[in-house]
Amino acid sequence: MTIQFNNETFRDDYSFHNSDWAIKRFPFPFHEDSYMYSVNMEQHRGGPEGSVYEKRFDVDEHYVSEMRDRAMVLADDPLRCQSLPHMTLAGWDLLELIMVSKSEDYPDLFELHRDGNTWRWINKPLGIDDTFTFLDETTLPYGPMEYITRQAQGDFCVLDQRDEMLWMDAGMVTTQADWSLDFDIGMNFFEWHAPVPLAHEMGIFKRALKFLLNIQQGAPARRLNWTMTVNPLLDTSPENYHKWGIQKTTLTPENIGSKQHLRVELQTFFRLPRSNALVFPIRCYLISFQDLVTMPKWGRRLHRVVRDLPDELATYKGFIDNRPMMLDYLSQFDDGLPTSPGV
Ligand code: HEM
Repeated sequence: MTIQFNNETFRDDYSFHNSDWAIKRFPFPFHEDSYMYSVNMEQHRGGPEGSVYEKRFDVDEHYVSEMRDRAMVLADDPLRCQSLPHMTLAGWDLLELIMVSKSEDYPDLFELHRDGNTWRWINKPLGIDDTFTFLDETTLPYGPMEYITRQAQGDFCVLDQRDEMLWMDAGMVTTQADWSLDFDIGMNFFEWHAPVPLAHEMGIFKRALKFLLNIQQGAPARRLNWTMTVNPLLDTSPENYHKWGIQKTTLTPENIGSKQHLRVELQTFFRLPRSNALVFPIRCYLISFQDLVTMPKWGRRLHRVVRDLPDELATYKGFIDNRPMMLDYLSQFDDGLPTSPGV
């Protein structure tokens, strides 16, 4: 296999780590020295070779360990995966999209053999070889959305589109930045975004919704979002806040370089063919501050972004209390030189 998969954890001893390759291709999200919300959407038509944008669903060295972590979250809390009854067809659409994409984009890792509705799916990294009947749920061990998203990195929201609105009617959400599928299930686009500060007043969600409603099949889109996480935790859910919230108080000037992580979400949007639903994969990439500053232009810029971020955003993203310590650390890597636009 072309990718060497890490054997690592996102909990307890936190053995998660990024190779030099993963650091170099990390999706650093800032194209200037300051940050504010915007409708930062672009086409998802592939990207530079080796980048996280190259394939429709990026598979990297964390794949096997992330899938193991997902299975643990689901064993503790099955409500992290929910699909309202009218969303089963969208689940099949998603299964098809992921199987076709992965088998075309990573033929050495995944194979899909189709003979009418009899499909054979081979997932080599996870040791899966299943034959099933497409559109017949009884032939899979889980519903179609759950089956395939147990084998795909990132969270997945599957949105029903009706009445010129998107509805969060299905999802697999185990690696989220402090929001809950169980709370949001059945909500519409404006309702689940209600807690976000400033963006409503800026008209961002109205414009974003208009864009999303018009996404066509075969023309996916993407954007980046970011936040901060202490320790390389994938599961920062409200359900488990009692476990991870407290860890924010363990930062010290000595350990901040290894414990504090920038968390970047590569969010993509695909129209699904039969159901006309929209799928929203949210792929999480973590990088420790000490790895991040090995790229001098990133260290310099992150210092300026964190320093100048409006308090409302630092509060919403949950790092306002640790911001002074983050700035002390990052300022060592800001030599005051101007930066050029872009990343
Ligand atoms: C935050 C879902 C598309 C902008 C969030 C949250 C959820 C979410 C669940 C967390 C809200 C909370 O605090 O409880 C989705 C889904 C989308 C989608 C399912 C696809 C249909 C978009 C788009 C934009 C956007 C297209 C474009 C501007 C934001 C922003 C935040 C946010 C700015 C705050 C993030 C932060 O500061 O960390 N979204 N979203 N979302 N969303 Fe979306």
